[in-house]
Amino acid sequence: MGSLLMPLLGSVAAKAGDALVAELLRAWGLAKSRWKLERHLAAVQCILLDAEARSHTNLGVRQWIKDLKSAAYQADDVIDDFFYEALRRRAAKIRHPYMACKVLSYFTVNSPVVFRFHMSWKLKDALETIDELVVEMNNFCFQQHAEAPSVVHPQTHSRVDESDIVGRQDDKEQVVKILLDHNSSNNNNVMVLPIVGMGGIGKTTLAQLVHNDRRVNHHFELVLWVCVSDKFVVEEIIRSIIEVATMKKCDLTQMEAMQKKLSEVLGNKRYLLVLDDVWNEDSQKWDDLRSLLCPDDDGSAHAGPGNAIVVTSRNNQVASIMGTVPPHQISLLNVDQSWELFCRIAFGREVEQQE
Ligand SMILES: Nc1ncnc2c1ncn2[C@@H]1O[C@H](COP(=O)(O)OP(=O)(O)O)[C@@H](O)[C@H]1O
Ligand SMILES: [Mg+2]
Repeated sequence: MGSLLMPLLGSVAAKAGDALVAELLRAWGLAKSRWKLERHLAAVQCILLDAEARSHTNLGVRQWIKDLKSAAYQADDVIDDFFYEALRRRAAKIRHPYMACKVLSYFTVNSPVVFRFHMSWKLKDALETIDELVVEMNNFCFQQHAEAPSVVHPQTHSRVDESDIVGRQDDKEQVVKILLDHNSSNNNNVMVLPIVGMGGIGKTTLAQLVHNDRRVNHHFELVLWVCVSDKFVVEEIIRSIIEVATMKKCDLTQMEAMQKKLSEVLGNKRYLLVLDDVWNEDSQKWDDLRSLLCPDDDGSAHAGPGNAIVVTSRNNQVASIMGTVPPHQISLLNVDQSWELFCRIAFGREVEQQE
């Protein structure tokens, strides 16, 4: 049960933190409820390992975990409702008589006041259940983990089906041009190009499009994708780079050995490295990684011309620490593209084809 509950709690916390959901909750005066939900979820995640261990011998704890699971599903449903309402509001702002009508009726929003009341009530109800579970939790005196497990960030990868992607052609062209121009400038320094924008806007998608672009793969001898996420551990990043480049598991544990292996793997090849979803604001850690990836012009093997690193992050601070060129600020899709994407998600492709 444990292996499922932890990701579920992480996923609810992540959804509650979503920018669209947060904006709607704030507008409806429910910011405090969201804050409380996030706090409670974090507190529960901290003791979950102990609770699960004790549930094998303690019936009360077993029941508590069962209730927690259904409360988490309830909260998940409610947050999904808020998410779709936020999407609906965006769509309704777009004037497109036939589809706007269809979308509005699809979500059956006959009385916005009643609807809003109903949603707020559902959130408060879910929160009340979690409140009660937290009180019970304190009575069980569970042991805390050393470190609170944070929001689950699923690993990303480089594969993308271009036919699923709406727009982003201009963004892709701009990024590809920057990368190829750098290559042709015979510049010995490694370029670090950040792609920044809020969560969910399409940074990873854009990086995938660039990673898979034919011209990019022609110019760079090695094109590597590493998902960094919230754990910026230099050793792990280096190990991932080695594994992705060699397509073999790397069992090395000594930094010295890893650094030699990295030099061997990168050699004199011109490489493009995508570091996806970076959160690290500690410039020292980045300096440590950079010194391994791009040693200064001291004759080191992989300080060759034209190497580039693309970093995606929702944090401008990260971009300013890591970037050697101005970041590519990813823009919102335009009205038509947003509409197309919305219709695909809400109604599938048939509607798009019917039009
Ligand atoms: N232009 C697009 N067309 C279709 N789907 C998209 C587009 N941009 C993003 N998505 C989808 O939206 C979700 C979030 O996008 P992602 O690239 O992971 O955002 P970010 O990295 O900025 O958080 C993904 O499921 C992705 O496939
Ligand atoms: Mg991403």
